[in-house]
Amino acid sequence: MEASIAEQLKRQAATSALEHVQNGMVLGLGTGSTVTHFLDLLGDRLLTGELKDVVGIPTSNRTTGEARQAGIDLIELGDSSRIDLTVDGADEISPDLDLIKGMGGALLREKMVAQSSDRVLIIADESKSVDRLGTLSPLPIEVVDWGIQGHVQFIMNWGGRASVRMMSNGENFKSDNGNLMLDCRFSDGIKEPAQLEAELQARAGVVESGLFLKVADVAILGTDSGPIELGRKS
Ligand code: 5RP
Repeated sequence: MEASIAEQLKRQAATSALEHVQNGMVLGLGTGSTVTHFLDLLGDRLLTGELKDVVGIPTSNRTTGEARQAGIDLIELGDSSRIDLTVDGADEISPDLDLIKGMGGALLREKMVAQSSDRVLIIADESKSVDRLGTLSPLPIEVVDWGIQGHVQFIMNWGGRASVRMMSNGENFKSDNGNLMLDCRFSDGIKEPAQLEAELQARAGVVESGLFLKVADVAILGTDSGPIELGRKS
């Protein structure tokens, strides 16, 4: 998909997501280029007074900066007893609204905020829709920087290939939490995501995985023929 078309579809999804935002809401604010559109649009609505008394809980340093720039008031996770709605992007979305997230490096805080939210709304362009997780995007896994080879072998036993995420300057990528990220590629996708997630959650040294299963309630996909809203069935 051409980059400028993808940006238009992301903005379309972000615009549609604003219809779910009401005055007085506490919003979880995800991370990534699609969320950047949402923050920009939300900032405009707050500036014009079309929306009032909305506060956000950012999931990354990047989002903190972008939200401040857009004039959105911020609080921290735990400052409010509830999060009404989280709006976030995704790297892959399955037909059941299971997700791969974390190519933006913020999966730990994104999962923490999503798990504390009454509703989770995912926005994306239609290219993120897949039949099986792991077919287009690697699966990011945040790990402590000791004993990584054990995780690499574990992923190999699952038929995948794990590599430590690097930055363009040749240094290891570090998350906002100071951890490393493993990007795990599976040539035929992930056959049993729930089983893989359970095993990852049981592994010491794994901080969090980018499998977001039964987390999203709604997804809005930007498409050539307009936004499509999908609800989770189970
Ligand atoms: C960050 C994420 C992002 O939501 C995901 O990478 C999608 O990003 P983008 O909207 O730029 O495609 O999980 O950790």
